Amino acid sequence: MSYLAEFDAAAPDDRWPLAKGWMEREPSAFFRELRRDRPILVTPACTLVARHADVVECMSNAEVFTVELYRSKMGTYMLAQDDTPDHSRDKAIMRTMLSRDDLPRIRALIGEVTAEILAGARGRIEAVSRVTRRVPIELVIRYFGFSTADPKKLARWSYWSQYDSFYNHDFDRQRRSAPIHRRSRKAAAEMAAYIGEEIAAKIAGIQKGEVRDDVVTRMLLTRYPPAIGFTPERLGLNVGGLLIGAVETTSQSVTGALAELLRRPRALAEAKQAALRGDLETFDRHVFEALRLRPLSPYLFRKSARDYTVAKGTARQTTIPAGTTVLALIASAMRDEDEFPLPEEFNIHRPLERTFHLGWGLHECLGKHIGMVMIPEIVRHFVLLDELRERAPIDCKGGPFPERWELEWSAGEA
Ligand code: HEM
Repeated sequence: MSYLAEFDAAAPDDRWPLAKGWMEREPSAFFRELRRDRPILVTPACTLVARHADVVECMSNAEVFTVELYRSKMGTYMLAQDDTPDHSRDKAIMRTMLSRDDLPRIRALIGEVTAEILAGARGRIEAVSRVTRRVPIELVIRYFGFSTADPKKLARWSYWSQYDSFYNHDFDRQRRSAPIHRRSRKAAAEMAAYIGEEIAAKIAGIQKGEVRDDVVTRMLLTRYPPAIGFTPERLGLNVGGLLIGAVETTSQSVTGALAELLRRPRALAEAKQAALRGDLETFDRHVFEALRLRPLSPYLFRKSARDYTVAKGTARQTTIPAGTTVLALIASAMRDEDEFPLPEEFNIHRPLERTFHLGWGLHECLGKHIGMVMIPEIVRHFVLLDELRERAPIDCKGGPFPERWELEWSAGEA
């Protein structure tokens, strides 16, 4: 029986759990059927949008498809605001602080840290705790300037905040919804206290003339006229966002891309050749193509602010009522034959600008350029290892994030 036949035959209350299960266990086949037979699937809990053009339409229309669902999680942080003056100002300031001129330095830092960890591992590693979470945390400490923080606490704060913000909504049907939210609140309070101390220490250092260049110090050295409203509270909020944005997202992307390369020996060998001859552009394209096939999440979610007809004038046009949770299926859109011919083929010459690796539209990732060097650079150091292989598949332990991934390689030749 087709997915849609089973979906239609199910009782209304069972439909979303069914679709959610397929999305998690067999996304590729389920999404293929959706794109072909019902590109906009209405379920009692949420509406799924499967075609590239429709995902772009929703993600480009922030006025209708809003980030309201983030508000109870992130307060007034930029990702929880639609096209507001706060969003524009905070994103502009933070983009300036995260200067793109830093990218070579960031790539070098990520490369050094990753290489050092792998060199010390002697042919076997649990990649999540030792690398895919640990390396972005090192970026948070050394480049963002969380200089005095305990890496374990940073990992915990980021984890619970990401969990609650992105994977703890009604449509997630979390059995542990309230405890996850409580852990996230507790983590946020601890993080806020730490950020207050770090800022005070940095200000004291600046007054003594000890100025090191990191992002938080840049933020503190800058004078913001009161008229623009970038208050100390907003500054602190944006410092917190630097940590939250960077860790699990990197870990999900690096594990996903590397796993996809490992199951494609030819692509892996070609990527390794590119890495060995120092052709970073070609190497990175392998990673982005792997991410097209396995993005950090199958979807981005929004809530509709008013009735709106998606794909108007086409056979699939559907009116989405106000108040609907919409899942823009980026994993499906990146296999849409209209944009990516022969989508199951690994082809590094795909149009990168049509992918959703770091979001799309108004809320496109603030750390996009960092992500685009950090993710491939971590993957590169794994790919350079000799005879790299999995000891066991990525284990998410029933949660949304990779928790454990045992890898091994022939040591001594890395
Ligand atoms: C490196 C891996 C990263 C990945 C894969 C990633 C992914 C994403 C995605 C998919 C979104 C869109 C969310 C949505 O539209 O609902 C996003 C937004 C965002 N990301 Fe990232 N991110 C990464 C790194 C970072 C870093 C390093 C930072 C901090 C410097 C950051 C800060 C943000 C912020 C603030 C937003 C919201 C922007 C806005 O509201 O306009 N991210 N990210």
